[in-house]
Amino acid sequence: MNNNVFRNLSYGVYIVGCCVDGKYTGCTVNSIMQITSSPATIALSVNHGNYTHECLEKTKEFSVSILSEHSNPLAIGTFGFRSGRDCEKFEIIPYELKNNLPVVKDACAYLICKITGQVETSTHTLFIADVIDGDILSTHQPMTYTYYHNVIKGKSPKTAPTYIEE
Ligand SMILES: Cc1cc2nc3c(=O)[nH]c(=O)nc-3n(C[C@H](O)[C@H](O)[C@H](O)COP(=O)(O)O)c2cc1C
Repeated sequence: MNNNVFRNLSYGVYIVGCCVDGKYTGCTVNSIMQITSSPATIALSVNHGNYTHECLEKTKEFSVSILSEHSNPLAIGTFGFRSGRDCEKFEIIPYELKNNLPVVKDACAYLICKITGQVETSTHTLFIADVIDGDILSTHQPMTYTYYHNVIKGKSPKTAPTYIEE
């Protein structure tokens, strides 16, 4: 099996945000897909070991900041290579509140989601969520996962569903 075949699947780059006990936290994800438009429903895959997983199970709601090619890549690294168990990521990255959930300021759009179900795999949970709100914040081009790898030369940690050992 040629594992590089998975590089031909297309994704965006997002920051999932949530609020637990009055504190904002979250992580970088690429694994978001739209399931249906009516009712607006998405799916998100999160590693069992991520602090964000614990928070999503607890609060059942999250924001999705859709990053653009103009978004500061520092957010991807801060949210994607550090854990909310050890640092307050939203103290490093500017955000604004939408429906009481944190949205990265230089994102090009956002979604507000309520979890309605989940499917377990051995390493990740697929959260199914209704999209209850959302808006466009700028006209910048949304960042693709390919752009992140090829232009920004970014990497993905082992917890990302798309991780490929190099
Ligand atoms: C580009 C990129 C994409 C990622 N995609 C996912 C993903 O889809 N699901 C996931 O569980 N982790 C993903 N990760 C890894 C998490 O962001 C990372 O494990 C993070 O440190 C978890 O933080 P937490 O412990 O605060 O939740 C990705 C990381 C990067 C850099």
